[in-house]
Amino acid sequence: MLKLGIIGTNWISRQFVEAAAASGQYQLTAVYSRREATAQAFIAKTQPAAAYTSMAAFLASDCEVVYIASPNSLHAQQAAAAIQADKHVLVEKPLVTHPQQLQVLNDALAKHPQVMVFEAARHLYDPNFQVVADYLKTHQVTGASLGYMKYSSRYDAYLAGKQPNIFSPQFAGGALMDLGIYLVYAAVAWFGMPQKAVYLPQMLASGVDGDGVAQLDYGAFDVVLRMGKTSNSTAQSEVYFGPDTIAFDSPGEFTALRLQTPKQSTDLWQYHAANPMAEEAAYFAQALRHNNRAAFSQQWALAQNVHALMGELRQSAGIHFDDDPE
Ligand SMILES: NC(=O)c1ccc[n+]([C@@H]2O[C@H](COP(=O)([O-])OP(=O)(O)OC[C@H]3O[C@@H](n4cnc5c(N)ncnc54)[C@H](OP(=O)(O)O)[C@@H]3O)[C@@H](O)[C@H]2O)c1
Repeated sequence: MLKLGIIGTNWISRQFVEAAAASGQYQLTAVYSRREATAQAFIAKTQPAAAYTSMAAFLASDCEVVYIASPNSLHAQQAAAAIQADKHVLVEKPLVTHPQQLQVLNDALAKHPQVMVFEAARHLYDPNFQVVADYLKTHQVTGASLGYMKYSSRYDAYLAGKQPNIFSPQFAGGALMDLGIYLVYAAVAWFGMPQKAVYLPQMLASGVDGDGVAQLDYGAFDVVLRMGKTSNSTAQSEVYFGPDTIAFDSPGEFTALRLQTPKQSTDLWQYHAANPMAEEAAYFAQALRHNNRAAFSQQWALAQNVHALMGELRQSAGIHFDDDPE
């Protein structure tokens, strides 16, 4: 059993603890919250564990792996602190909010070479994600249109004059950071790094992007990404292979996956667990328990490319966060 510590006590942490429990490979031992009562309420709803309001004490506890689901702007510094405390790290997307923060993490990893860090990009571990990747190995791609647009439950609060973290540049919020990253992950994992990339966002008055379109130029083909938190999209995502098309709802949430040729339509959808974090929780546990450095190296290299491209897209749109380097 991997002793699990949690940072952040919102519903997503509870969902991860449930996925971790279902894998049978983790035991919750430590919960960090800014408030004791919040930590205790989280523990009451999940599993028995020690509550901490001091980060230093939490990191000095005997947990072996830390799952971080705090506001985006805190991920890199909390991940670095966990690495320095010799904990493995599972950090919610986005791993970093500026590509320069990758260096801080790489420096920490160089000093703690036994530690592994995984970004919790849950869709990578959905079997349907791999179906597309496998199809691409033997078929010539000619383009793609990928979308993930969901009206955020917090947008109403934003419109009412509040500033939820996810709509704030102080916490590195916005559509690209929150949902766009799923699309950027899919594009980089499936097609590699583009030659050029540009992001055209609709900016909110708060200073983050409410929605937007990115174009990735791969030379021989284009990939268009449509992301947003202020509207609901029902458009399907597609990867093109000349006359044939693989169509699915979104790389962020596969509930359908079909291959459409001029002659026939074939269902390619693979069963995935009801808890969307189940597959990643099991994958991370396997990698950590068997010291699978190859899995770590592969996913770490992918994450670094993803965040280089995220940085390029953000720079092309002139989106600035409060914590950006000068
Ligand atoms: N993989 C997925 O499907 C998925 C889904 C949703 C969210 N996420 C990711 O999970 C992360 C958290 O998202 P969220 O919507 O839960 O964020 P959030 O509600 O803004 O904050 C998450 C937790 O961080 C702590 N926190 C809140 N404000 C803080 C502040 N000002 N300073 C320090 N800590 C603060 C709170 O825990 P305490 O009060 O206990 O300190 C809170 O429960 C994000 O990075 C997001 O991208 C992933």
